[in-house]
Amino acid sequence: MGEIVFTEKQEALVKESWEILKQDIPKYSLHFFSQILEIAPAAKDMFSFLRDTDEVPHNNPKLKAHAVKVFKMTCETAIQLREKGKVVVADTTLQYLGSVHLKSGVLDPHFEVVKEALVRTLKEGLGEKYNEEVEGAWSQAYDHLALAIKAEMKQED
Ligand code: HEM
Repeated sequence: MGEIVFTEKQEALVKESWEILKQDIPKYSLHFFSQILEIAPAAKDMFSFLRDTDEVPHNNPKLKAHAVKVFKMTCETAIQLREKGKVVVADTTLQYLGSVHLKSGVLDPHFEVVKEALVRTLKEGLGEKYNEEVEGAWSQAYDHLALAIKAEMKQED
């Protein structure tokens, strides 16, 4: 893959918006998962912490951990894209991500579901600060990260 152009402005937008959402992890992780389940109700049974409940549980550590990982790793990816023009995730981390998702039954289309949920959560959290440029920067970073995870999942297949 060639060099990816990710600007300083885009990096700044991603970092700034993550700083805002980080201030209320319980709220936004709940919102994020509610959106995932609204878009793809069937995704529920893949998550150990959702399997036996009818509602998205409040203050569940695993739920919060997954939400934070998705946002934080996308933010880290944005920084790498700007600095190096490519995604750099440690091999061991990527292998772990590949195997966890493969084992959980995650398929390629699920990554689009999570992306939409991420965008909706940004919209909710940023209010007036949300715009197409913010969405574009997050989408671009997320797509590259998702691509790396999906490639790893295929290798393990
Ligand atoms: C587990 C990250 C996308 C479903 C995990 C874990 C990480 C992670 C780090 C290990 C558990 C933890 O430490 O929280 C990510 C990242 C993603 C992504 C960075 C996208 C960029 C997805 C998607 C799905 C998914 C698209 C499916 C809708 C799961 C499931 C687990 C998991 C079911 C096991 C959690 C459990 O049942 O406890 N993910 N994930 N992930 N992920 Fe993802």
